[in-house]
Order: sequence, then structure tokens, then C-alpha cells
Amino acid sequence: MKVEQSGVPLSGPYLDEREEQLVLEVLRSGRLSLGPTIDAFEELVAAKTGAPYAAAVSSGTTGLHLLCVTAGISAGDEVITTPYSFAASANCFIYEGAVPVFADIDRATLNMDPRAVEAAVTPRTKAIVAVDIYGYPCELDELRATADRHGLALIQDSCEALGAEYRGATIGSHGPSAVFAFYPNKQITTGEGGIVTTHSEEEWRLLRSLRNQGRGDSGGWLEHVRLGYNYRLDDVRAALGIGQIEKLDEILALRRDVAARYGELLRGIDGVELPLPDDADHRRSWFVYVVLLPSNADRERVIAHFEREGIGYNRYLPSIHLQPYMRERFGFSEGLCPVSEGVSSRSLALPFFTALGRDAQERVAEALAAAL
Ligand SMILES: Cc1ncc(COP(=O)(O)O)c(C=O)c1O
Repeated sequence: MKVEQSGVPLSGPYLDEREEQLVLEVLRSGRLSLGPTIDAFEELVAAKTGAPYAAAVSSGTTGLHLLCVTAGISAGDEVITTPYSFAASANCFIYEGAVPVFADIDRATLNMDPRAVEAAVTPRTKAIVAVDIYGYPCELDELRATADRHGLALIQDSCEALGAEYRGATIGSHGPSAVFAFYPNKQITTGEGGIVTTHSEEEWRLLRSLRNQGRGDSGGWLEHVRLGYNYRLDDVRAALGIGQIEKLDEILALRRDVAARYGELLRGIDGVELPLPDDADHRRSWFVYVVLLPSNADRERVIAHFEREGIGYNRYLPSIHLQPYMRERFGFSEGLCPVSEGVSSRSLALPFFTALGRDAQERVAEALAAAL
């Protein structure tokens, strides 16, 4: 979408001289890939997420794909995931020939309803891909119970949830392998990039091999012990990531403040539903700020007004099963996941980023009120 120079952008990274310095050091070191900066970045992310091991990859999507490979997902398997997510949550296993089974979401959390997941299990189910949508932790314990009961793999798509906490512990620390993503609209960025956290040393070694063309531990450059990929993160991006993870606590606190200010500014607008607040079991890591417009509102009119005012927005998120390629390939249509579809038709992402100031937020709130 187009936004004027003077407008309020939808998102933006939070960077300073520290990242410049770290990137410059790598450039001057001559070790631009497969160097020590990657290991350092991985250790920092592992420590922050409370996972023993982390493997950096080229994106959140490639991290998810690798976990589908390590879970042994193959052609004809069914994998249960949420319709209310980014397409990669389902694409990651379709790459392996698996079939998506969408479990509808809980209207309040916008994450998969664990009862819908349990009901969707069949003898062909191989795995569950659980998403922490908009940084709000999913019902991990219930999903784990379902996975354990039926012998399924559980993959955490936590691409939007770095720093979130479920039942008092950081996402990544609970046990299932998790993926975090670092596209520039995320809490922290490496430009493009992602990371997989795991509690298994064996899986970690496998991930490092798979991301690096299937090379083995022996270190032979031209020895490929398995079918691998080039899903590596390079050292330049890892340096950027180090600068970012160093400020993660500050970033999360600032984003929390931005969200709280929106809460104050938007509370008075009739019929607009604000993001679910935290509770004892769920502490959100703020990724985006998505509101639900009143059911009788015309979202496209609101968007037209935002465009006139130079205010960023996005129609977060369409339901995955209704994407053109999903309809075509799997025959999905309206009515499959009514809760997700209802939310998709009413949700709107407002400008949200770490350095977003009160004045800009007031403009957004005024524009929304005026449009409605
Ligand atoms: C829930 C979710 N899963 C997966 C991804 C994919 O991450 P990437 O864009 O780094 O491939 C994203 C990123 O937007 C996401 O939000």
C-alpha cells in the first residue's frame, strides 16, 4: 500500500549505530558466511528464549520447512494448522507433499482452538503446526496433550512471538521446537532471516546439516550425507541480529508502551475491538496492532480514508484456506472455518513499530474514529 512521506508507516525497524558497527566489523573481517558471528547470534537467541540450542536460517519459512523435514512429514500426511495465520504456516508442510487440515480459531485469542485440533485428528495426521498469532501465545499445553495422545509432532510457529511468555516461561523454553522470524516488520530484524530453537542436540545437528546443503559433521565441503538446502543465514545478517537481540528487552518494553497508548486512544471508539489483554498464562510479545472493526463497518471505506490521510494499514490476516492457490489445489471454500473467516473480514492492522510516538498514534486514532 502507498503511504505519503509525511504519513504514518505501518511498520519499521529499530536500529542505531550499534548495528552499523557490528555489520561493519563483519564486512572488515572477511568472514561473510559460515563464520563465528552466526554462532554468537545463535547463542544469544538460545539464551533469550530459554532453549538449549538454536540454528539460524535464512527465513522463518525455511526454518519451518526444516522442522517439517526433521518431523518426517511426507506425501499424503495430514498436518493440522490454523487458518488465521501467514501462508507460510501451511506452506512449510505442503512443500513435503502433506495436506493441510485447518482447525478453526478461538474468537478471543485468535489462535487455534485446542478442541478443534483434537477433533481434526485422523489416522493420517502426522503433525500440528501451532502458531502464536500476533505474538499471543497459543494453548501449548492442550496442543501438546493432543500431540502426545496421538503420537504427533508439534511444531511451534512462533515467528511473530519472540519474547512472549506462556505460563510464566519464554516461548522456546517449553520443549517443542520453535521458529522465530526476523523480517523487518518483526520485533527484531536481520533483514531476512529466522532461527529454530530446539531442546534436542541431535535435531540441532541435523538442522545445521540440512540448512547447509546436507553436509556432514566431518566438515568435508563437497561431502553431502543427506538431501540438504541452502537455508543459511550469513554473518552480515547475524551481526545485525546481535545488535537487535542486545536491545530485545528495550524493544519489547517500548512496543508494550505503544500498545498501551493505543489502548487508551482507541478505547472510546464505539464497536472497535482491541487486542486481547494478557492474563496469568499468556504474555504477548507485541508484533502488530490489529483491531476488529464493528461488524456493520465497511473496512474498505476505512482503508480509503487511511490512504487519504497517509496512514499505513494492512488487511491482516486473510484466512489461508481461502487463498486462490489453496482453493484450487485442495478445494477449500467459505464456511470451512467460520470463526477465522469472520475475523478475517473485519480485522485491520494499524501502524505499529517500536519507535511509534504518541502524536502519530493520535493521528491514527482520529483517522479511525473519523472513518467510522
Ligand atoms: C506466523 C508466521 N509464520 C511464518 C512466517 C514466515 O517468516 P518469513 O517471512 O521470515 O519467511 C511469518 C512471517 O511473516 C509469520 O508471521
